[in-house]
Amino acid sequence: MRVTINEIKEMKQRGEKIAMITAYDYSTAKLIDEAGMPLILVGDSLGMVMLGYETTIPVTMDEMIHHTRAVVRGTQRAMVIGDMPFMTYHVTTEDALRNAARFIQEGGAQSVKLEGGETVAEKVKRLVECGIPVMGHIGLTPQSVHQFGGFKVVGKTPEAAVRLLNDAKALEEAGVFAIVLETVPAPLSKLITERVSVPTIGIGAGSDCDGQVQVVHDLLGLFTDFVPKHAKQYAVLCDTIRAAVSDYISEVKEGSFPTEKQSYKMDESIIAELARSSSGTV
Ligand code: KIV
Repeated sequence: MRVTINEIKEMKQRGEKIAMITAYDYSTAKLIDEAGMPLILVGDSLGMVMLGYETTIPVTMDEMIHHTRAVVRGTQRAMVIGDMPFMTYHVTTEDALRNAARFIQEGGAQSVKLEGGETVAEKVKRLVECGIPVMGHIGLTPQSVHQFGGFKVVGKTPEAAVRLLNDAKALEEAGVFAIVLETVPAPLSKLITERVSVPTIGIGAGSDCDGQVQVVHDLLGLFTDFVPKHAKQYAVLCDTIRAAVSDYISEVKEGSFPTEKQSYKMDESIIAELARSSSGTV
C-alpha cells in the first residue's frame, strides 16, 4: 500500500519531519523508493535537469505523463505526485480537471502539485472535490520566473510576506494536503508552518518547515549547469560518472575491455568448422 495523504497530514500532527525528493525515471525512482522515501515528486524541473531547457516553462503534459509513468512503474510504497506544467491549469477549471485527471489515470500518480496561491485556489478546490489530492506550491514558483525577473527569494517585504501567508491560508481552505514553500526566508516559513494545519514542505525555506524537498540531481551532484544555494550534495555523481566513462574510453582504446568475463562462449568446434569451410557456410 502506498503512502496516503492522511499519513502525510498525521506526520505533521506528530511532529515527524517529512522527506520528499524528485524523480523522473524508473531506475532512480526504484532506488529512492527502496531507500524509504514517502513522497516522490515528478517535478517539471525535469525540463531543466533531464531535457536541458533553460526554464520549466516549455514542459508539456505529454512529457510529464511519460516520466510519471516511469516513476510509478519503479515504485511500490511512495506516493507519486505529478507536477502540473505551465498553463495546464490556469485558463479554465475544465483544463485543470482534465490535465490533473491525466496524471492520475494515464500517469498512475496518486496526487498532483500546482503552483500559485489565492489565484488558483478555486481550481484546487474543484480538483479536491473531484477526488484528486493536490499539493500547493508558493514562494518562488519557477513557472512565473519571467514575472519574478529571475529565481529570487520571495516574501522579504511586509507586503510580500502577507501575500504569501494569505496564499498559504487560501490553499489550506481549498483543501490541499501539503504546501511546498520555495525560496522563502526561514522566519516567514516558520510562521506559515505554524499558521496552517497542513504540512509545509520547504526547499530553500529553512529548517522549521514540516518537511523538505530536493531535486534529486542536486542532491546526488548530477546537474552541473548550476547548484542552488539551498541544495546539499550528498554525493557528487558527476565526478564518478566522468571518471567511469573516461576509464571506459581508455580501456576500449587500449583493448583491455572487454575481457573474457564480459564475453559469451560457444562450442569452439563450430567456429573451427566454419573457418575450414571454403564457402563460409557449414
Ligand atoms: O519541479 C520541481 O522539482 C519542484 C520542486 C523544486 C518543488 O517543483
